[in-house]
Amino acid sequence: MADGTQSKCRAVCLISGSGTNLQAIIENINNKSLNIDLISVISDNPMAKGIQRAEKEGIDTKIIDYSTFEDRKEFDKSVEIQILDLDPDLIILAGYMKILDTNFCNIFSGKILNIHPSLLPKYKGLNTHQKVIDNNEKYHGASVHFVVPELDDGPVIIQYQCEVDKNDDHHSLQKKVLQGEYIIYSKALQWFSENRLVFDSGNIFLDGEALLKPRLIRKD
Ligand code: GRF
Repeated sequence: MADGTQSKCRAVCLISGSGTNLQAIIENINNKSLNIDLISVISDNPMAKGIQRAEKEGIDTKIIDYSTFEDRKEFDKSVEIQILDLDPDLIILAGYMKILDTNFCNIFSGKILNIHPSLLPKYKGLNTHQKVIDNNEKYHGASVHFVVPELDDGPVIIQYQCEVDKNDDHHSLQKKVLQGEYIIYSKALQWFSENRLVFDSGNIFLDGEALLKPRLIRKD
């Protein structure tokens, strides 16, 4: 991968929807703060706006339309075959709404990163912003983690933390958190692309040292 002498980290991005994280990644590649080769963007949803964003940048796109498959197993197999064929160094999940099966997670272990809109291990799953409001949390944020078969459970690399204001609703919180997501995701991706970030036997190593707790970026 990218260390000046070797070739660039080849990444595939999986999306299902709006793709604003994808957009931020593309912008960081374009402004050279992120040194990865985004070889393809794959969506399970033909209507995903992220597909248009990628096409506009001339990035290869593939639709694996979930609705056209007989069952979940066939769909999972098709995604697996497609990605094996692309043979990426890194798989970036950016708002991909399908849970990856155990086999997939094992084949690509240590190569799959996800971003989740909460301060994991709090609030796994969906509707995190509303849950944070309902529970009167003081802080909220986002986490980038390596993917393991258990949902939103892989070790966390980096988090973004912001305060929850008393006037915040689901939308304002989502907006605040997304701004942080764009920062921490590209940071983690850049570390990975430089071989600084490694996942081995359930542990994360950053610059050769075990990362015992996630790096934290706070909103000023
Ligand atoms: C983000 O909140 C991300 O944390 C979650 O899905 C959402 C995707 O948003 N996994 P976008 O499609 O990148 O705008």
